[in-house]
Amino acid sequence: MTGLDRAAYRRAAGRFASGIMVVSTRQAGIDHAMTVTAFTSVSLDPVLVLFCAEKVARFHDAVLAAGTWAASVLREDSEKAARWLATRGRPLAGQLDAFRHHPGPLTGAPVLDDALSALECRTTAVHDGGDHSIVVGEVLGVTEPSPDEDMGPLLHFSGRYRRLRPDG
Ligand SMILES: Cc1cc2nc3c(=O)[nH]c(=O)nc-3n(C[C@H](O)[C@H](O)[C@H](O)COP(=O)(O)O)c2cc1C
Repeated sequence: MTGLDRAAYRRAAGRFASGIMVVSTRQAGIDHAMTVTAFTSVSLDPVLVLFCAEKVARFHDAVLAAGTWAASVLREDSEKAARWLATRGRPLAGQLDAFRHHPGPLTGAPVLDDALSALECRTTAVHDGGDHSIVVGEVLGVTEPSPDEDMGPLLHFSGRYRRLRPDG
């Protein structure tokens, strides 16, 4: 334990703007999903990405047991999904019912139909990261719906959901 002011840390780190992902997996016949911002590309050869999963999240054990997962990049009109899938204690069963989704062709993990894009991954390493695990995955395939120029990403900055402003 350091003398770090945790509230100040959260404010400072929260000024690093990020997109929003919904990571998802299918384990023992149940679809699990949660909202994350701790996601990044790692390597191009092989193609690796990572996300950080809080060890107490129900998603944590489900994704480690499944070994495969998907990550859907949220559109600017998906704040409802982002909020719901970040709500602790929501019912596990049917948690994606309100949002159109389909099984990823490579992993069976649920992919959001309205995502800007989606990646399907296989876990290649899990590293300890304090109260989170750092889950590294090889990208097996991607989904790229036709781009809608009018639909940008959902962002998170300074504790709030945001949208890109048009240029100019
Ligand atoms: C904007 C935002 C970003 C989040 N990013 C992460 C993250 O990167 N990793 C994580 O484990 N939890 C993250 N969370 C918290 C999880 O979404 C939340 O704990 C969720 O309810 C866990 O669901 P589960 O217990 O069903 O697995 C984030 C929440 C919000 C609102």
